[in-house]
Amino acid sequence: MDKQTLIDNLNRDLANELSAIIQYITYAAKATGPYRPQLAAFFLEEVADEQAHALFLANKIVALGGEPTTQAAPVAAAASNHEMLEAILKAEVQAGKDYTRRAVEADEYGDKGLAVQLEDMVRDEMGHSEECERMLRDWPV
Ligand SMILES: [Fe+2]
Ligand SMILES: [Fe+2]
Repeated sequence: MDKQTLIDNLNRDLANELSAIIQYITYAAKATGPYRPQLAAFFLEEVADEQAHALFLANKIVALGGEPTTQAAPVAAAASNHEMLEAILKAEVQAGKDYTRRAVEADEYGDKGLAVQLEDMVRDEMGHSEECERMLRDWPV
């Protein structure tokens, strides 16, 4: 794992974290119906975690000599509460997979501190996806 590839991959992760922040803020605004208070609160709670992830990645990219991206990845369109939760579940599962892979790459590069931090982020993202999956499990139809 060479440094530039690691920086590029961390920048893709950063673009996804910036997207997650936008996704949660937008979905909190769009949540409707009797579950709106809980859904909006749940979405907004996640923003703090994703912001911390984005901040860590931006700092690490600079520490490695790279330039942090300011371009967020696209946010999935969602027309209902259910579609928003489905889109979030998909994004959170993917984030868990991405950080699992990135932690291996950080180890290969020889940065144990980064590997440990990325594994912590795997735990965060899995917490997010499990919570989301449990909400969808008994979603009224
Ligand atoms: Fe995140
Ligand atoms: Fe997350």
